[in-house]
Amino acid sequence: MFNLLASALKVPPSSAVSLTLADMSGTRHVVAIINQKGGVGKTTTTANLGAALARSGLRTCLVDLDPQAHLSLHFGVRPQEDDATVYDLLLEAGSNAADVAIEVEKGLDIIPAETDLAAVEADLAGLPDKQDRLRQALAAAGDQWDAVLIDCPPSLGVLTLNALAASTEVFVPMQAHFLALQGVGKLLETVGLICGSVNPDLRVAGIVLCMHESQTTLAREVVEDLEAFLESCREQPVPWSQCRVLSPPVRRNIKLAEAPSFGQSILAYDSTSRGALDYLAVAESVIQLWRPPAAEVEVKIDASASEGADTIG
Ligand SMILES: Nc1ncnc2c1ncn2[C@@H]1O[C@H](COP(=O)(O)OP(=O)(O)OP(=O)(O)O)[C@@H](O)[C@H]1O
Ligand SMILES: [Mg+2]
Repeated sequence: MFNLLASALKVPPSSAVSLTLADMSGTRHVVAIINQKGGVGKTTTTANLGAALARSGLRTCLVDLDPQAHLSLHFGVRPQEDDATVYDLLLEAGSNAADVAIEVEKGLDIIPAETDLAAVEADLAGLPDKQDRLRQALAAAGDQWDAVLIDCPPSLGVLTLNALAASTEVFVPMQAHFLALQGVGKLLETVGLICGSVNPDLRVAGIVLCMHESQTTLAREVVEDLEAFLESCREQPVPWSQCRVLSPPVRRNIKLAEAPSFGQSILAYDSTSRGALDYLAVAESVIQLWRPPAAEVEVKIDASASEGADTIG
């Protein structure tokens, strides 16, 4: 069992990444980073996985959809009264996400929030498309980004519904202990219900293990249980049937907690820290996950080769 788990958690070789990026052109992934449990690593994962994807060459946008505005603070973004935020995107029908995005690191944009976002639930009450505003605003931005990561609040209100309606997939950060495992079970059920109503194409694609202590027996057992549970769902008609535990687990690393005080991602703050290395490796796993099956890539290459032949001819 241990060997199985070790091979499942193996980091893919970095040479695979450049191949994958070429294969990915034209696709866009919108990921809701969600867990209704507080303090599990949602914001830390959104910030640093996003920064790692941007370093890999993907044009990446982070959306701060939490009234705590921790993601914005992580990058030292403190919107003033007149500055547009995600609140304006949600409130004004027909708005464009690209108009509100700010570049915080090379290739990495953020759509910031401030605490007034807490009022949005009441402000949108009664509007028929209140769950669809973020999706519309991102759609208006066209192909501006290759990847969009949405940092969700630790609750399942209208903000999280907007995230789920806008997303192509869900990543769940969690800590490997028993109660967290129960929480993930409940969350998967909820996502299943929402898929049925607002977003039938939504898939739970990955679990990110955060603040991981691999040397403890409890953490090892919870990961084994989680893997076994996901395996048992492979043939079932549920939105998490293809869900993977993304490798490697992100180890507890104090640098990850320090980086927000400097308004930087872990890659800008300390690129050699264990936190930076872990999130870079998780980004490689994500890019692998997004890589189309080999057959599709071959078809694409064949198609472009014959297009070239036509032009020359
Ligand atoms: N791998 C890690 N090592 C050390 N500290 C971490 C790690 N991941 C997250 N933290 C710290 O744990 C705390 C909670 O993380 P984070 O804010 O990302 O959780 P969250 O799920 O977004 O919380 P909330 O539900 O309140 O939005 C933060 O202080 C963060 O810096
Ligand atoms: Mg958070």
